[in-house]
Amino acid sequence: MPYPEIRPRRLRRNAAVRRLVAETRVDPAELVVPMFVKEGLTEPRPIASLPGVLQHSRDSLRKAAAEAVQAGVGGIMLFGVPQNRDETGSGGIDPAGILNVAIRDVVAEVGDATVVMSDLCLDEFTSHGHCGVLTPDGAVDNDATLEAYARMAVAQADAGVHVVGPSGMMDGQVGVVRRALDAAGHQDVAVLAYAAKYASAFFGPFRDAVESCLEGDRRSYQQDPANLRESLREVELDVAEGADMVMVKPALPYLDVVSAVRAAVDVPVAAYQVSGEYAMVEAAAANGWIDRERVMLETLTSIRRAGAQIILTYWAVEAAGLLRQRY
Ligand code: PBG
Repeated sequence: MPYPEIRPRRLRRNAAVRRLVAETRVDPAELVVPMFVKEGLTEPRPIASLPGVLQHSRDSLRKAAAEAVQAGVGGIMLFGVPQNRDETGSGGIDPAGILNVAIRDVVAEVGDATVVMSDLCLDEFTSHGHCGVLTPDGAVDNDATLEAYARMAVAQADAGVHVVGPSGMMDGQVGVVRRALDAAGHQDVAVLAYAAKYASAFFGPFRDAVESCLEGDRRSYQQDPANLRESLREVELDVAEGADMVMVKPALPYLDVVSAVRAAVDVPVAAYQVSGEYAMVEAAAANGWIDRERVMLETLTSIRRAGAQIILTYWAVEAAGLLRQRY
């Protein structure tokens, strides 16, 4: 009798059978591409620590948004880089502020062909770089910040955004944003809560992308990387406050969190493959140390396998093209 009787390798013997039995597929429709737009630019500008990602001008953003739709990505997450910042981050609330202007531009360009999302946080707009307003002694003032988030959410919804992404990790932010949107007649605008967001060193290149002026760190509001159960508590609170979708961020170093969150809630779970995750792979690939495309798709598959149904990734447009060839 030949041994062994059970041969798992049969289902790996060629590409066709592997494709047939693959448990996880990444669909371009589940990818969301983050985009940066900088006030006053006439030409897009590269970001040194995020090779291949641009700070867009208003014009180039519209073109990039149209290309993203063409590529079939599920959504676009917008970040604004203002020319001037102040103590309270008023540029985030001003309808003429760069992010609100960019939302209008992108919605005018793409309509309902993809989901237009916006980061709802003050850090790009404050002179001190924190995600909220400060008390006189320099602490981040939770409840005063909530008022600003409520106004910012309404400004973004007025500009036509489909989904707001509160990312500042203030207590109660989802409830306040939901109530403000409803009171302003924006019941249809959904909330993607950055529910489990860690105080991560993987955000490094993003700070270059938005020219962050942060001094100090965000450890008094973003989560300690040591904690998993705390994420479940954050996610449950956000769902109770009205979050339509919840997000874990970063992604690859926190796949255990993605998996636990997926098991804990029934709303769609997103994961954000952040700037540092992208930059590490790009840097290693530029040195010829890894196969860039294979690593890219392997990371996305892993995030999907862990339970994220939606993935925010700077590779979204390129990965969508690769995935289309593959399946
Ligand atoms: C906050 C925000 C950050 C990122 C997304 N939204 C920065 C931070 O919390 O410090 C990071 C994304 C990335 O690193 O790709 N506006």
